[in-house]
Amino acid sequence: MASLVFRGHDTTLIPDSYSPKHPKPWSSLTRSIQYILREQRLIFVLVGMAIAALVFTILPSSPSHYNYSTIPDSYFTSESTRLAAAHRVVFDRRVGFVGGVGGKIPLGLKRKGLRIVVTGGAGFVGSHLVDRLIARGDSVIVVDNFFTGFKGNLIHHFGNPRFELIRHDVVEPILLEVDQIYHLACPASPVHYKFNPVKTIKTNVVGTLNMLGLAKRVGARFLLTSTSEVYGDPLQHPQVETYWGNVNPIGVRSCYDEGKRTAETLTMDYHRGAGVEVRIARIFNTYGPRMCIDDGRVVSNFVAQALRKEPLTVYGDGKQTRSFQYVSDLVEGLMRLMEGEHVGPFNLGNPGEFTMMELAQVVQETIDPNAKIEFRPNTEDDPHKRKPDISKAKELLGWEPVVPLRKGLPMMVSDFRQRIFGDHKDGSSDMSSTV
Ligand SMILES: NC(=O)c1ccc[n+]([C@@H]2O[C@H](COP(=O)([O-])OP(=O)(O)OC[C@H]3O[C@@H](n4cnc5c(N)ncnc54)[C@H](O)[C@@H]3O)[C@@H](O)[C@H]2O)c1
Repeated sequence: MASLVFRGHDTTLIPDSYSPKHPKPWSSLTRSIQYILREQRLIFVLVGMAIAALVFTILPSSPSHYNYSTIPDSYFTSESTRLAAAHRVVFDRRVGFVGGVGGKIPLGLKRKGLRIVVTGGAGFVGSHLVDRLIARGDSVIVVDNFFTGFKGNLIHHFGNPRFELIRHDVVEPILLEVDQIYHLACPASPVHYKFNPVKTIKTNVVGTLNMLGLAKRVGARFLLTSTSEVYGDPLQHPQVETYWGNVNPIGVRSCYDEGKRTAETLTMDYHRGAGVEVRIARIFNTYGPRMCIDDGRVVSNFVAQALRKEPLTVYGDGKQTRSFQYVSDLVEGLMRLMEGEHVGPFNLGNPGEFTMMELAQVVQETIDPNAKIEFRPNTEDDPHKRKPDISKAKELLGWEPVVPLRKGLPMMVSDFRQRIFGDHKDGSSDMSSTV
């Protein structure tokens, strides 16, 4: 050891030990200039610069206002790509690539993809969200315990280097390096969330705590998918975000309703107390392809029953109202909320209000005009009315649903028909496989 130290000193002291020649600092510069002057390369460089300057000068400025009403109605035909384009505009404006601030987009400059976690991404809403994020160019990590989600909902992304799927229960902590967290993990239909109520509230409380902890640790933006159930059986109609709700804290639905209310509280406390950037969406009834068949939700119930030639079961007198939002509208709203500057909460739902009887009629018109209707006693704590007031989302997110029930339902019906009867005529991917 001592001799090593000694030799080191020797090395620095010997004056004529080998040292490479220092290159002359300007020799490379001279070489570059000579290279440029050779064979008229300078002229080429100057011409290139002139063309670039000309292109940037005549390139039209980005419009300061985007008309979102151009978003088309059909989701599976042209919707995903065109909505993705519309959404990219929102994002670009946020990060300042376009618009009034800096002017024009430099040619060839693309938005850098984000790293995004979607918890519950193998479920109904989550898998549609993942489709849009991947289409936008982001890298997505799905975290799911497959309680109600299916690998089949994401199978078309397997092999994509920008996609990862982790089997994980959010009740346990997880560490990931990401920019954004969409927190959807939670069973959403009464059949599923009542199956193990303690697990449901744990998922809402401990799961949300874990994901907020992750957001705080890595500085990610966090979006909570809350629910219209936080309004309980509302005494105010339609429901605005400032309404605090009328929820039974000890009923059979409380594991979900109160769980989501606590998740909202935690989200706001992490925001106020720890400076985490958060967003809260209160989602109203949503339907579309990849919904669980037989999950007890009214739209999936009616559609599956009509396809199987069973009577449509209406609970109570059928006069309860609900509003039905097509899944692509919801995904658009969630992404705008995440990219926008407002915390929320925001109601995301379709304000078109239908009684259960009216919904049954639309299903009859779409699938089978001879489908019978059967009445059953109503379930406990079933809210009588539900209709979102979406003025806040319209004003601050520039969002409103564009797919009416009569357009969205046929798209869901063709997916259900395929999964129930195994009809693969239209060549779309199998969405029914389980893990
Ligand atoms: N679909 C709607 O109408 C609606 C309405 C209001 C709120 N929401 C909310 O939107 C979110 C998604 O709903 P959805 O309709 O897609 O439901 P879904 O049941 O299809 O999806 C939920 C996903 O979360 C996963 N999950 C459940 N518990 C988990 C856990 N502990 N750890 C990891 N993963 C878990 C499930 O496996 C599933 O993939 C939920 O948070 C739900 O409360 C949905």
